[in-house]
Amino acid sequence: MSNLATTGDKTGHNAGLALHPLGHALGAEVAQADLTAALDASAVDAIRAAWNENHILLFRGQTLSPDALIAFAGRFGELDRHDATPFYRLEGHPEILLVTNRMIGGKPSETRNTGRNWHSDYSYTGRPAAASMLYCEEKPPVGGDTMFCNMVRAYETLSDKMKRIVDGLEAVYDIGLTAGINERDPQKTAELRRINPPIAHPAVRTHPSSGKKALYVSERASHFHGMTAEESRPLIQFLCAHATRPENVYRHRWQVNDLVLWDNRTTMHIALADFDPAAPRHMLRTTLLGEPSGFVVDG
Ligand code: OGA
Ligand code: MN
Repeated sequence: MSNLATTGDKTGHNAGLALHPLGHALGAEVAQADLTAALDASAVDAIRAAWNENHILLFRGQTLSPDALIAFAGRFGELDRHDATPFYRLEGHPEILLVTNRMIGGKPSETRNTGRNWHSDYSYTGRPAAASMLYCEEKPPVGGDTMFCNMVRAYETLSDKMKRIVDGLEAVYDIGLTAGINERDPQKTAELRRINPPIAHPAVRTHPSSGKKALYVSERASHFHGMTAEESRPLIQFLCAHATRPENVYRHRWQVNDLVLWDNRTTMHIALADFDPAAPRHMLRTTLLGEPSGFVVDG
């Protein structure tokens, strides 16, 4: 534990982290940690416990190469190689997705507008992401923030009747509802649609570690399975508005060398376009595979 500050005794037995809350609804910063140092099993357990409790964790001031980021992320689960969005990977490192507005091969990056509606990562796949980690290498002078909301609280603050209604629903996810996808290369987006046909997942899921129920609906859901789009849309809109009320949100203002970890089973997030698109914003993402889930539907 020498690389992580603890509040426990000096022997490291009581491996509590130096945690500072970021928001009332969710989020905590882990202070005085160096993630390039080898983490022992108790450090990994302590981070995992804090992560389950707070849903998102922030580590500031980290200097992480792609290999170091992959090594750290791999301590927490099986890394996704991003076959669902193969065009966005860092060359030579399929475990890293580039979220950048830097030019790539002389063209505007396809990920320059990633994440612009409320979502949980890879909900349009058969293994929706358990978790993601985003590392900031470059940021605009102002803005480029990311907001996160707590989907456990979103579920818990529904009325009992509404809980029972959503408990029985499956939301159908459509990669075509990714905001900004129509501004990207049409051939590549056609391929993304082919790889990721619409898929239904339970609208309420139980977290495998905490046992807590979380709402699992987002702005990338087109409808509820067995219901029409017209019937579904008002409910999807209500649930998203309910989940993203300001008091249920943490807004992250990035600093270079921040690493933010989020649990995709208990949170949604959105990337804000609140910055000058000519100012570089360059982030590296790793993704942890979730459990197989859902069934492909005809639309
Ligand atoms: C992502 C994402 C948000 C951001 O990488 O999954 O949604 O602010 N990014 O870049
Ligand atoms: Mn995302």
